Amino acid sequence: MNTPRSELPQDVVTGIPDVDEQHRVLLELVTDLTENSDESRDRAFFDRTIAYLKNYIAFHFACEEMVMQTYCYPNLSAHRRQHAALGNSLAQLAAQGAEGPARKLIAGLSFFAEDFWNHHVKIVDREMASYLRTHGPGGEVTLPTVQELTQGSFLPSDFDQNVVQGKRGVR
Ligand SMILES: [Fe+2]
Ligand SMILES: [Fe+2]
Repeated sequence: MNTPRSELPQDVVTGIPDVDEQHRVLLELVTDLTENSDESRDRAFFDRTIAYLKNYIAFHFACEEMVMQTYCYPNLSAHRRQHAALGNSLAQLAAQGAEGPARKLIAGLSFFAEDFWNHHVKIVDREMASYLRTHGPGGEVTLPTVQELTQGSFLPSDFDQNVVQGKRGVR
């Protein structure tokens, strides 16, 4: 079944189409977990979706980091630290997910999503996009492939390519 594509709220749009597309996938995944789920839903659904979210976000962070490095973005280190903190929060939620109640997991994900959209995408990613517009190819940025990210050691050691293979925004 195809789910309708969600639109990004205007205040989180970066203006770089490939980045916005990956953010749209992330929005759909988090919405799937936090709004379309209830206690009766199969736990396997949570575990599958969290595993996908964890891998997809690792891929997304790696894409941004490689592009920032390519165009000598001066705030790369700080941006990377935020990615690491967000990745750790998600890993903790994924680890809890196998045991804790679904309700607690959904609350944790809502908190994570709030942090991701309001403190990261809305501010930090948009600053990156603004730099790329003036110091790089702007909206024409082409994000790297999984192979390029692997060669450049941008992906975490526990990244599972099979989980995100063939998904939107992943090349
Ligand atoms: Fe970012
Ligand atoms: Fe991002």
